[in-house]
Amino acid sequence: MEVVPLATAAEVARLAADIIEELVRRRAAADGAAVLGLATGSTPLATYAELIARRQAGAGPDYRGVRTFNLDEYVGLPPDHEQTYLATIRRELTDPLGIPPEQVHGPDPALAGLPGAGERYEAELRAAGGIALQVLGIGTDGHIGFNEPGSSLASLTRIKTLTARTRSDNARFFGSADAVPRHVLTQGIATILRAGHLLLLATGEAKAGAVAAAVEGPVTASCPASAIQLHPHVSVILDAAAASALTRLDYYQEVWAAKPDWQGL
Ligand code: PGA
Repeated sequence: MEVVPLATAAEVARLAADIIEELVRRRAAADGAAVLGLATGSTPLATYAELIARRQAGAGPDYRGVRTFNLDEYVGLPPDHEQTYLATIRRELTDPLGIPPEQVHGPDPALAGLPGAGERYEAELRAAGGIALQVLGIGTDGHIGFNEPGSSLASLTRIKTLTARTRSDNARFFGSADAVPRHVLTQGIATILRAGHLLLLATGEAKAGAVAAAVEGPVTASCPASAIQLHPHVSVILDAAAASALTRLDYYQEVWAAKPDWQGL
């Protein structure tokens, strides 16, 4: 795992955008198309805005072949609700980048098919050849995707019930915590660990405790994000506030400052 402690959220966004663009270019050069795993929530928005700004300035890669898979989705919202994660990712990223909507996927929360929705999403991921790069945020309670504390480290895509804390964290998108759906479909922890590269982004002091538990604590279902320690290729990109509770912060800073040019992330 590589922990990159940067100063500001803007630096986090620029570095994350570099990593995503590099993958898209590399896959296109190999005559393939990148398969990206996307997170919603507030944290990646600055990265997505950076990618869009570069693309609009003519500097970004061509995204038309890229396929994307969301981490999770609310259950129980009307399909045309603006806060579904499919609508959110289209609005905040894939439409402005020019990725055709049929290449933008998420777990299907339609009530009629709900019991099999997790398995169907797993099959879609397999058919796409798996996710090359998975963008992750982290919840203040240590969740990744919507895998709340206590989630099996072997879990696949399935229905979960949100904690009161997550519903209160997400109240800003719905006006009140009561209006946040209770149930979600989320990639499981084992699903997330199948991606080729995990890119976990965290900014702000509210994330400092969860980041420290995920990176330096024991691997435990009580902190689902700690499962990233089991993955061979993880980049954790942090601003100073999110990195502030790490005990090995000096070391991570030293590693980053001494990083050779030939060694990518
Ligand atoms: P946030 O959410 O980026 O809105 O803080 C992160 C998460 O819940 O994974």
